[in-house]
Amino acid sequence: MTTTSRTAALRQVPGPRGVPVLGSLPQWKTSTAEFLLQVQRDYGEISRMKLGPQTVYLVSDPDAVGRVLKENSGNYVRGSLYEQFKTVMGDGLLTTDGDFWKSHRRAVQPAFLRKAVTAVGPYVVDATNEMLDEWEERAHRGEPVDLITETLKLTLVTLSRSLFGFDIKPAAPVLKDVVDNVVEVMFKHGSVAEMLPSWLPTKRNRSIARDRRIFGRLVEEIRERHARTGEGRLMELIEAATDPVTGERWSDEEIRDEMLTIYLAGHETTAVALLWTLLSVANNPAAQEEMDEEIDRVLGGRVPGPEDVEELQYTKQVVDESLRLYPPIWVYPRDAVGDDELGGYRIPAKSSVLLSPLVSHRNPRYWDNPEAFDPHRFDPHLVKQRPRMTYFPFGAGARMCIGNYMALLELRIAVAMISQRFRLSVLPGNFIRYGDTSISLRPMSDVWVKLHPRDARPAASAPSGTGAVA
Ligand code: HEM
Repeated sequence: MTTTSRTAALRQVPGPRGVPVLGSLPQWKTSTAEFLLQVQRDYGEISRMKLGPQTVYLVSDPDAVGRVLKENSGNYVRGSLYEQFKTVMGDGLLTTDGDFWKSHRRAVQPAFLRKAVTAVGPYVVDATNEMLDEWEERAHRGEPVDLITETLKLTLVTLSRSLFGFDIKPAAPVLKDVVDNVVEVMFKHGSVAEMLPSWLPTKRNRSIARDRRIFGRLVEEIRERHARTGEGRLMELIEAATDPVTGERWSDEEIRDEMLTIYLAGHETTAVALLWTLLSVANNPAAQEEMDEEIDRVLGGRVPGPEDVEELQYTKQVVDESLRLYPPIWVYPRDAVGDDELGGYRIPAKSSVLLSPLVSHRNPRYWDNPEAFDPHRFDPHLVKQRPRMTYFPFGAGARMCIGNYMALLELRIAVAMISQRFRLSVLPGNFIRYGDTSISLRPMSDVWVKLHPRDARPAASAPSGTGAVA
């Protein structure tokens, strides 16, 4: 039997029928994550749904995820759903394929290697200390903080100083508005506005153009500063990068889009991960206690350096578990170039495949009591026993997150330093649930937390009003 006739003979993929014309778009628009989790429960680990005119396959079978991201990754391109990203980021590492992507990845990779990333450690320590000093004053005045604003500022400042040699702190409030806006825009909501051409002066298109202008001005400032000081390892690589065919330097647009990609992909994700880690710990006093014991034993009161991070095994597991329950990039697409076979089902050319770390990470077949926060799931012997591709918060294969070492270093250092100085409790009345209407898994609303300097520990009971946080 030829591959084509064999593929044609494969079974039909199960999935919800939906309503005429719209298919499952109404459920997608109402609550995307809950809908996808339900589809996995009802139809299994490879399922099919119609979202308006588009047929989409949700894939969480670990071998099939591995095939899409690794073994047969050449058959899967970014595709139509990534077009949303392009409207904001333009042509950068996240949105392109083929030779363009490969040459860009090669050009910037040296700044993200495990060894190179240790240089980021001191920047994390400095930025975290600055934040905690401000927290001390606010705690003294009895003022709460909005945790997403704080974590976004911390990761933005760290990334900008360490990779781009630029202190972005004064611009952080303006950029937060831009970032809040673009993470919504980049997610496919299935609205009419998303389907209109980008040159039409719609409200949505005008706001994207405004955000790109703000970022364009910032890029110019950063490049000017780099030209004067030579600071910023990544900036150095970007300014020296050339096209492998023509030998010409990257154009100004190419540089702008790549910088925008790294700024956005790098700080928003890490901020969301830090936020969920802190909330999970605030709501799990036993985890906090175990982490305290480890941090006190390993660090004895001093700030952590990159060399300490490997010793902070439980703290690392706390971060890993938070990335399991709340993977910041919780769903992402691919388009099949040619026909493929996944888990015994035929996936026709040109169809879209959705991979969702959130759905895979909560699959009860591989995770006992999946909604519960339990860092001991990541005890090294259990990690070894788990099938591959049941956990992939940073993706996998050639397109795996370029910033994964940096993010993990940053998260472990920041979590340890915050734990050394503060306990957090969510203000009563804050109902915290993850929102699923943007590309990252942000909470639905601001998260106001009360700061308790560590010496004045709060009662060991779970803070009230923490809603859905596990
Ligand atoms: C907890 C933090 C982070 C998470 C959960 C995360 C997650 C991801 C995921 C899942 C992908 C793969 C998307 C796909 O295959 O379609 C990705 C790609 C990417 N990430 Fe991250 N990321 C994080 C931090 C960072 C950082 C710190 C940087 C840079 C400073 C970064 C830069 C990128 C870039 C440039 C890509 C595209 C890589 C490529 O296709 O070559 N990310 N990230």
